[in-house]
Parts: sequence; C-alpha cells; structure tokens
Amino acid sequence: MTLDDVAARTPSLLQFTEHSDRSLTHRMFRYPAKFHVPVAAGLIEQFSTPGQTILDPFCGSGTILVEASVRGRSSVGTDLDPLAVAVSRAKTSSFPPGQLESVTERLQTCLATLRRPDSEYLALAKSDLTDDDYRRALDGLWVPAIPRLRHWFRNYVIIDLARIRSQILKLELAPAIERWIMVVFASIIRNASNADPVPVSGLEVTAHMRRLDAAGRVINPFALLDKALGRAVRGATAYASERSPATSTSVFQSDATTLQTPTQPDVIITSPPYQNAVDYYRRHQLEMFWLDLTSTQADRLALQPSYIGKHRVAASNPILKAPWAPSPTAQEWLDRMQEQAPPRARDFRAYMTSMDAVFARWADLLPAGGLAVCVVGRSTWNGANIPTDELFLEMAQGRFSMLDHLSYPVKNRYMSYARRNGADIAEEHVLVLEALPPDALP
Ligand SMILES: C[S@@+](CC[C@H](N)C(=O)[O-])C[C@H]1O[C@@H](n2cnc3c(N)ncnc32)[C@H](O)[C@@H]1O
Repeated sequence: MTLDDVAARTPSLLQFTEHSDRSLTHRMFRYPAKFHVPVAAGLIEQFSTPGQTILDPFCGSGTILVEASVRGRSSVGTDLDPLAVAVSRAKTSSFPPGQLESVTERLQTCLATLRRPDSEYLALAKSDLTDDDYRRALDGLWVPAIPRLRHWFRNYVIIDLARIRSQILKLELAPAIERWIMVVFASIIRNASNADPVPVSGLEVTAHMRRLDAAGRVINPFALLDKALGRAVRGATAYASERSPATSTSVFQSDATTLQTPTQPDVIITSPPYQNAVDYYRRHQLEMFWLDLTSTQADRLALQPSYIGKHRVAASNPILKAPWAPSPTAQEWLDRMQEQAPPRARDFRAYMTSMDAVFARWADLLPAGGLAVCVVGRSTWNGANIPTDELFLEMAQGRFSMLDHLSYPVKNRYMSYARRNGADIAEEHVLVLEALPPDALP
C-alpha cells in the first residue's frame, strides 16, 4: 500500500473483543495513557503468534508484556522512565503460591504498631502536625529530597509514608519481592499527596483538591496501602496462574532512540508517547523520589531532555541540532508552527527527530518481514488536527511497507490529557508496518 493509497482511504475499524473480566495485574498502578487492555490483547492476537517474542520499546506500565505472557508470547519491554520499568517488572513478576500472602501478612503485622487510630486521622484532616511536632516525629526517618516536599504532602502523611517505607525495608525481603512491594507502595503516593489524582497528565495541587482538603479530606496512608496490597496480591495470583510458563519477560531501561536488545524481537507492538500530551517526567516525580529511583533533582533533570513528546523543549536540547530530513508534510507543519509559535515548532521538531531515530532503530532490530504495530493519536494545534499517523507513515517509508491502517474511538478518558495543551485525542490509529529486507533500504 503506498502513501497515496493510505491518504485516499478511511482506516478500517480495529476489531477487538470487549473486555474479559480478567484484570490480572493491570490495576496495580494507575499509569497515564496506558493501553486499553482489549486493544493490547487484540493487537497481540492479530499480529503475533504463540512462541514469538514481542518488543514494546515504550512499555510504560507493561500492558503488552502482561497480555503477551498470558497469550504464550515472550516479551521485552523497555522505557526511558525508571518508574515505568519498576512498574512493568512488578506487574510481570511471578511468585510461588502463598509467598505474597505471607509477606504482606508479615508487613501488616509490623505496620499495625505504627498505625494511628481512625480518630487521629479525622483530627489530622482538620489540623495537621505543627512544624515542631513534624520535626520531632521525623526522629531520623529517611524522607525523600523532593523539592517543596511539604507543598506536595501534609506533615503527618510524610511521617506515615516514611514509616511504611522504612518498615518494608526492615523486612529484608528478597530483591524481587521487595521491588514488588515498593511498587504497591508507589501506587498509593498520588492519592496520599495533595496533588489531584485525576489529571494524570502532570502534577498539580488543583483548586478542586484545595476545596476537598478544606472540607476535611481524610488521608490515611495505612488504609490506602491495605487496599492496594489486597488488589495487588489478587492480581499477581491471577497472573501467576494464567501466564504461560514457557514464556519469558525482560524489562530494562533504555532510550528508544538508541535501543539495543539482547534478543531479536519477531514483532514490535507499542504505543509511543503523543506530542504534548502526558508529561511523564513531571507526573512521576513524587513516586520516583519515594522509591529512591532518583536521589537528587540533578539526577532526575539529566533524564528530562530525552523524554519524547514533551512540551516546552528547551532551545538547548541537543535533539534540535540532530540531522533531520523532514518529509513534505512535516516541513509544512514545521513552517506553519515556526511562523505562529516558535516554541511549538521546537516541540514538533524534537518529537519528529526523535521518532525518526526510533523508526530507524526498529528497522535495524526487526528481521525482514517482521511487523511493527504502532498505536498513534492525532493531536491538535490551533484547532487543526496534526496527522501524526501520516507523518509516521512518511517516516517509515523506505524502511517499512504499509500493511494496514486501522483506527478505533477512544472511549476511556482514563488518559485525561490536559486540554489546554491541545492533545485532546478522540481517536487512535494503528499502523501495521512490515520491515523491508536490508537490500531494499536506501
Ligand atoms: C503512551 S506511554 C506507553 C504506555 C504503555 N503502552 C502502557 O500500557 O502502560 C509512552 C511511554 O513512552 C515513554 N518514553 C518517553 N520518551 C521515551 C524515550 N525516549 N525512550 C523510551 N521511552 C520513552 C514514557 O515514559 C511512557 O511510558
């Protein structure tokens, strides 16, 4: 299918079976813009076969990896974001029967001595610990070096979270199980904070949260953890019994523009970040610090320029100096943006240059004939739809041939993109590309 054919036809509707009630480990962590599970499952079933290895180079919370292993496929998941790697590992870990129950029971017994009575939480909702009481309660506890820590959390919540974290570490668990429990702990951070949990695209203490807090919102980190542990144990138990033992899953941190994998994948199934939609770097700030995935702000800042899809890309970002030969459509959009909004043109250029490097990596990693299945959303700018699917197709030309172009409506607004940044995505597209043999490459 040529690009002109593609432009001339309406994408066919992606067929997928509506949700089964298997939630497996999918509900362990609320991850922004994650795959709709039936879409992930449908793409795996349609475009891979049991025994193959699927690569998801933007694995996020690991939806593809979880669904792959219950469908007899091995998988490799990579992501730039350290929290994504931790979550994906936890969601695809499998433990012997009964082990999680006994560890969580041990943890809950130890935590029982640290819990405040419910009446104290009610009182603290109206009047937090004073600064002096906070300092006294700290008593040598480790707290993360989050800038403006007490803007993001109430004083007593910091103490409770630090006590929970320290108790988890005191159990001296095997590394895999400790990492698993830490992800459960990470899953309560957002709800225990002052930030609004709903707009998952960033991190903000909204007027809505201030109103709830003024009305006496009760935050009990221990109760949040009880619930999260119960849900996580049930999910992990279902996953362990359903995953195919013949499959393997590996997850590691990597920038998709320079990715190398130890094994050659048969198929790539992925959903790259959208332009100007979710700020993963900012969104995951609190969890990254609490899990000690970053110890200083400088550590974290070093990662920031490599996130694809960010808005307000700094003029000094090296990606803006990288060579890039824009396609005619990309050049057209770049010129329009350059004329009206130079910072938006920088974001666009950085996005396109990075995605171009990503497509080049995919062509290297896949065998000839291997499929790259890529979910993409059109974002809007100045009231116009940026045809990201067509821009990707132009990029893929010369490296891939186009097998199919599907689309489906986005019903689940769980993605909660911020409308102000123009990434209001109502429909997603699926590009099915086939890697050309090396002698066909330019
Ligand atoms: C749309 S999300 C993927 C969500 C995933 N499909 C799921 O179900 O959870 C895009 C992911 O791309 C990651 N990302 C952004 N820039 C990246 C880069 N340069 N290399 C690798 N991953 C990157 C983000 O951290 C985010 O997890």
